[in-house]
Amino acid sequence: MTIFNSNTLIEITQQFGTPAWIYDAATIRQQIKQLRNFDVIRFAQKACSNTHILRLMREEGVMVDAVSAGEIERSLAAGYSNSDNPESIVFTADVIDRETLALVIQHDIPVNIGSMDMLHRIAESSPRHPIWIRVNPGFGHGHSEKTNTGGPNSKHGISLEDLPQAISLVNQYGLDLIGIHMHIGSGSDLEHLSQACQAMIDTVKFANVDIRAISTGGGLPTPYSKNDSELDTKAFFGLWDEARKEIENHLGHDIKLEVEPGRFLVASAGVLVAEIHCLKSTAQHHFVLVDAGFNDLLRPSMYGSYHEIEVLHQSEFTDQIDTSSSAVEYAVAGPLCESGDVFTQDASGVICHQALDKPRVGDLLVFNDVGAYGASMSSNYNSRPLAPEILVDKGLNRLVRKRQNIRNLLALEDV
Ligand code: LLP
Repeated sequence: MTIFNSNTLIEITQQFGTPAWIYDAATIRQQIKQLRNFDVIRFAQKACSNTHILRLMREEGVMVDAVSAGEIERSLAAGYSNSDNPESIVFTADVIDRETLALVIQHDIPVNIGSMDMLHRIAESSPRHPIWIRVNPGFGHGHSEKTNTGGPNSKHGISLEDLPQAISLVNQYGLDLIGIHMHIGSGSDLEHLSQACQAMIDTVKFANVDIRAISTGGGLPTPYSKNDSELDTKAFFGLWDEARKEIENHLGHDIKLEVEPGRFLVASAGVLVAEIHCLKSTAQHHFVLVDAGFNDLLRPSMYGSYHEIEVLHQSEFTDQIDTSSSAVEYAVAGPLCESGDVFTQDASGVICHQALDKPRVGDLLVFNDVGAYGASMSSNYNSRPLAPEILVDKGLNRLVRKRQNIRNLLALEDV
C-alpha cells in the first residue's frame, strides 16, 4: 500500500508531470527515530542523495557518508561542515582520486579506508589525517550477490590478512585512527548482520589498537513485500551494544557506536509515479507500458528486485477499458528500446507478473518503496531526461529537483 493518499499523488503529477519521484518527510523522520539509540546515525547518501533530503537528515542530527567528490559537494551544499562538527561527513572508498583527496584535506573529512593503496596515498599526502579502517571480515551477505560486500569475492575493504600491516602504517605515519568499520552488504538480515558483531570484537582485539568508535556499516533490511518482515531494531541495537561493551572492556574506555544505513532510512519513504501509455497482450503476457523505464528505476533490471505496483485511476479515456480481458496479472514495462526494460522480473531476467486493478491507458502506476537506490541510480539512457523529485513535508509538496530536459543534455555536448 502506498504511503500517500491518491489525491496527493494525482495532484502532484498534474502539477509536475510523470514520471516523478515523490518522498514523504514524515516517514524518513519515523525511520530515523527507530535508530536513535546509536550514538551516531550516518546516512549512506548513495541511497538518495538529493540535497534537500540531506538537509532534512542534517536537521534531524543525522551525519552523512560520502563515496565520491560529488557526494562530498552535496553534503557541503546541504550545510554539513566538519569544522562545525568533526563527525559530520566521512568519505568511504577503496580508491581516492586527486580531486577527492584535495577535498578531504581541505575540509578535514575523515576517510574510511578500504585498500592498502588508498592508505598509502592518504598517509603520504596528509600524515595526521583522521581515518577509519574498513575491514572485510571474510564473509558478507546482501539481498543479491551484487550487493554482498564481504568475503573473498568482494573488492571492498582491507582483509584481515592485511590488517596488521595497515595498523603498522597508521602508527608509522601518526594517522589519527578513529575507528574500525565493517559493511558486509546491502539489504542483509538480522542473522547475518549480527555475525558482524562478533567479527568486530575479534577484529579490534586482533588489531591491537586504540580506537574511539566502531561502525556497523549499513545493510539494514526494509520490507518490500507483504512477506518481508520488519527489522527488529531493538534486537539489532542490543547485539551491537553488547559488542561495544566488550570492546570497551578490552580497551578500558568508552567508544562510540555508529550505524550507517541508506535503505532503512529512505526506501519506504519514496514512490515513483508513471503514466500508463499502452496495454498490449502477447501469447505469454499482458503488458502494461508506462513512461518510466529502467533509466529511472534500475533495481528490477539490475537485481530482479520486487517493487509493489498499484494503479491510480484517473484516466479520461474511459472508452478504452478493455472489458473483454479478464486479466488481473500484468507484466509492467517501460518505454526503452531494450527487452530487459521490465519492472516485473526475477534475478535471472524471467518476466513475472503482478496483480493490477483494471489498469487503463491514462491511469497512473505507483511503484512503492523506491526511496532508496531509485532516483540515485537513474541514468540518461535512450536520452531520457531525469525525472523530477518532490518532497512532501507538513502538507507542502516541494519540487526539490526539477525535471531535466534535453537542452540540459545537449548543452554538455556544445551543440
Ligand atoms: N555503507 C557502505 C560502505 C555501503 O557501501 C553501503 C551501500 C551502505 C552503507 C548502505 O547500505 P544500505 O543500508 O542502503 O543497504 N544499489 C543497491 C544497493 C547497493 C548498496 C551499496 N552500498 C540496491 O539498489 O539494492
